[in-house]
Amino acid sequence: MTEVKPAELIFICFMLLHGFVAALNCTSPTPQSLLHALEQHVFPEKQMRPAKNFSDTTNITITITILGILGVNEKAQILTTVLWQALQWNIEGLSWDEKECGTTRISVPREKLWIPDIYITEFMDEDKSPKTPYVYLDNTGRVYDFKPIRVISSCRLGIYTFPFDVQNCSLTFGSYLHFAKDVRMIQGATSEEILEKSRNVLQTKGEWELIDIDVAPSTLAIEETQYSQIKYYIIMKRRPTHYVVNLLVPSCFLVTLDVFSVLLPPESVDRASFKMTLILGYTVFLLIMNEQLPITGESTPVINVFFTLTFTMMVASLLDTVVIINIEFSSSRYRAPPRWLRVLVLQYLAVVVFLPPEKKSNRVTVFLNPSTDERTINSSITNISKSHLSSITGNTTPVKTPPVPLDSALQELKKLSRDLTAIRLQMDEHLQGNKTAQEWQMIGRVIDRLLFGFYIVFITVSYITIICIWTWNNSYAA
Ligand SMILES: *[C@@H]1O[C@H](CO)[C@@H](O)[C@H](O)[C@H]1NC(C)=O
Ligand SMILES: *[C@@H]1O[C@H](CO)[C@@H](O)[C@H](O)[C@H]1NC(C)=O
Ligand SMILES: *[C@@H]1O[C@H](CO)[C@@H](O)[C@H](O)[C@H]1NC(C)=O
Ligand SMILES: *[C@@H]1O[C@H](CO)[C@@H](O)[C@H](O)[C@H]1NC(C)=O
Ligand SMILES: *[C@@H]1O[C@H](CO)[C@@H](O)[C@H](O)[C@H]1NC(C)=O
Ligand SMILES: *[C@@H]1O[C@H](CO)[C@@H](O)[C@H](O)[C@H]1NC(C)=O
Ligand SMILES: *[C@@H]1O[C@H](CO)[C@@H](O)[C@H](O)[C@H]1NC(C)=O
Repeated sequence: MTEVKPAELIFICFMLLHGFVAALNCTSPTPQSLLHALEQHVFPEKQMRPAKNFSDTTNITITITILGILGVNEKAQILTTVLWQALQWNIEGLSWDEKECGTTRISVPREKLWIPDIYITEFMDEDKSPKTPYVYLDNTGRVYDFKPIRVISSCRLGIYTFPFDVQNCSLTFGSYLHFAKDVRMIQGATSEEILEKSRNVLQTKGEWELIDIDVAPSTLAIEETQYSQIKYYIIMKRRPTHYVVNLLVPSCFLVTLDVFSVLLPPESVDRASFKMTLILGYTVFLLIMNEQLPITGESTPVINVFFTLTFTMMVASLLDTVVIINIEFSSSRYRAPPRWLRVLVLQYLAVVVFLPPEKKSNRVTVFLNPSTDERTINSSITNISKSHLSSITGNTTPVKTPPVPLDSALQELKKLSRDLTAIRLQMDEHLQGNKTAQEWQMIGRVIDRLLFGFYIVFITVSYITIICIWTWNNSYAA
């Protein structure tokens, strides 16, 4: 039908002056008649915002349901979610009688109606979700526009407490073009309803668990113009089991092994090679782990610091073992430990690590000055030999023995005495060296125990910290 009756034209103009559309009149309660009426009075108006008056605001009620949290990219700071977006608005003045037209609602192609330009501020990539071609229109003029959207949004992700992290990502819905006085966003369901519904429909049981949703209407002001927006905060928690099983537990095992390697005697080379093997294993483990850890330029996960500190402790403990082995094997060649070291380590630190200094035996204190010693021995031997010789040469010898030359016997005895003295001196020197070595070994043992103590304390504190972070994060969900 190309020709338009003048009367009809006048009527339409009249209608437009007085309002958008009036109640529809269906000729019969069939879809065809309703569609015909819609085609005549509603569809031609789709270029315009469905308001009777320019000063009227179109209220768009929005409700979202989170269908899935697909993933988080820490490096790109991107969150991928799938939502159901439900928009509702009114076509002012449109209505029809249920009995007359035979239905309360009808689905119409999306492109036949005015559709608000709602978009998400955080969009980072195009929406690849399937397009839904229809919207519902009911007999009060309300339009229901439901569709799924795959949102790739930017989100500021904090990974400090990885893998026990909780992320707070916002999705801001608003009209791209229309000012707040033309299109206003109205919050539909409350955050509790959204959360409950989302929990029911959440299909992915992936790495992320939805724990809370916050909704807040807000207004974006750019210069004088204001835009109405609705902000959703999606609060989600990482499920840490995978990381606990793959990262924390092996690390803890390696560290525990390293701690217990203290039970191996330090003087045996086995302890050093054992620790070396552990460090090698840990290095391989760190390499594997680095691929799993999230990276951002902003912060380092606390777990990284934990791993690095553990590695440092392992290396330090290996170094300590090396020093102790060195002391064990070559301390007899060392000079006596300096006084301050002896006092500090043997008197104070030894008490701290429950290794009280041994009681000094008398043997240690009886050393005489070797020179006077030698002289005394020399003279006493001389005296003994003299008296002995005199007794031999006296009356007590009934047997006639060939006379021993006194001088040669004396010489022999003196030589013997010199040898004895030399042996004694050697012995003294050896004992002195043995004492130095013992002191060094004691120092080594004290330092070994001290480092062991530090190690235990550090490991305990870090485990407690990790467990605290974990329980604190878990309590958030409660
Ligand atoms: C429908 O009919 C009523 C009364 O019969 C009339 O007032 C109204 O304007 C009609 N509406 C349209 C859109 O023709
Ligand atoms: C539009 O609204 C304004 C104020 O709300 C009113 O003054 C004006 O008459 C209205 N126009 C029409 C056509 O209803
Ligand atoms: C939209 O909402 C505001 C306040 O909530 C109200 O004043 C206005 O009339 C509503 N507009 C329509 C078209 O219902
Ligand atoms: C999420 O972040 C927003 C703004 O950064 C803040 O207002 C809101 O309280 C946060 N929610 C939670 C649960 O931390
Ligand atoms: C021991 O005595 C002899 C002579 O009796 C003397 O020649 C020698 O120097 C003495 N040795 C020492 C260490 O006094
Ligand atoms: C050895 O004998 C001489 C005299 O016979 C004496 O003066 C000296 O004190 C004696 N030495 C020792 C150690 O007995
Ligand atoms: C030190 O002396 C003791 C006996 O006094 C001995 O059993 C030990 O083997 C000696 N140690 C060294 C390193 O010579």
